[in-house]
Amino acid sequence: MTGKLRLGVNIDHVATIRNARGGDHPDPVRAAEIVARCGGDGITAHLREDRRHIRDDDLKRIQGATDLPLNLEMAATEEMLAIALAHKPHAACIVPEKREERTTEGGLDAAGQHNHLTPIISQLKDAGIRVSLFIEASERQLDAALQMGVPVVEFHTGEYAHAALDGDHEKVERELKRISDMSALAAKNGIEPHAGHGLTYENVQPIAAIPQLAELNIGHYLIGEAIFDGLEPAVLRMRELMDLAR
Ligand code: PXP
Repeated sequence: MTGKLRLGVNIDHVATIRNARGGDHPDPVRAAEIVARCGGDGITAHLREDRRHIRDDDLKRIQGATDLPLNLEMAATEEMLAIALAHKPHAACIVPEKREERTTEGGLDAAGQHNHLTPIISQLKDAGIRVSLFIEASERQLDAALQMGVPVVEFHTGEYAHAALDGDHEKVERELKRISDMSALAAKNGIEPHAGHGLTYENVQPIAAIPQLAELNIGHYLIGEAIFDGLEPAVLRMRELMDLAR
């Protein structure tokens, strides 16, 4: 059965604009409150090593301002682990992080980093934090996630989104099949599949139609649309498109 698809709104780029001037405006906490009011299902925030958008004090303020579950995107480092254990977000999504990249450009190599990731995952799980791994939709990475016992994986939809932008229809279809097949395989093995990266009003629906997906995490495009239309209409429009696709 196709259940409700949750929308996690990534508010990082409200903080990017704030940080451009170094002050307090616009405040990502205000964005989190709006998302909560207009039917978003969760707040996603990525505390990067260089703090280029979300800062440490934002996490506590976001948690204090809304009852929505916080999904903390984090690199698998001792520093981020300590922060996650101190804040105990509802969920932690482990992402690869390169200092020089503009955004999270690819999935985590879960298969190649088994020994590094396993103790981090188990400490997060012991603290009651739901762990997910941000991976490419491939059998190799999904197998690794299964072996590590994570309850959730998030499939990176960046290749799909780029192909859609380039008008490469064959690649769009290939990527969709890959994400759809891996979502089915994840669900069959008891892992809850999520997806995200580069999703827009134009490309969200074929992804949202994948029945096993339980959650999409969407940020940059929504914050961009919010500049023109406001955050609430942008979230409501995305929500509507997702619901129509189910
Ligand atoms: N999911 C994860 C794990 C991410 O790292 C990101 C980007 O920070 C997103 C979703 C959202 O991607 P976008 O900002 O392109 O919507």
